[in-house]
Amino acid sequence: LSSIRVDVSGVDQGSQLTVKWLGKPVFIRRRTEAEIEAARDVDVSSLPDPVARNENLDGTADATDQNRALDDTGEWLVQIGVCTHLGCVPLSNAGDYVLDSGVGGWFCPCHGSHYDTAGRIRKGPAPENLPVPVAEFVDETTVKLG
Ligand code: FES
Repeated sequence: LSSIRVDVSGVDQGSQLTVKWLGKPVFIRRRTEAEIEAARDVDVSSLPDPVARNENLDGTADATDQNRALDDTGEWLVQIGVCTHLGCVPLSNAGDYVLDSGVGGWFCPCHGSHYDTAGRIRKGPAPENLPVPVAEFVDETTVKLG
């Protein structure tokens, strides 16, 4: 099993660090309060994919923001940056779920999939939420993937 440790001390709120892991981009995002609030203010039953898709939880966990975020406050969100439609890399702070502040959400330009501030698919052809890989904080500023 190959795990890596990523220093996240330089990541500002409203931005993300992209690292390559097991040949795929991984988005490590530090969310603003507004991004967290927007993500938590969603009725899970209205989502196209109501499942968390979080490898740290069992496969039946529902797609609440709490079930996708890395930490309890929701500040950190870690996802595989591969669109669940045909595998393009979604752009951050783009699409229909960008907040008024100009941050939040992801948009896949290949065929127009829009992901919300929790990386959940909301519009477009992608069938599933962006996957959350096995991840944890091993100290205050280090995230371990795998
Ligand atoms: Fe992302 Fe098709 S690959 S919308």
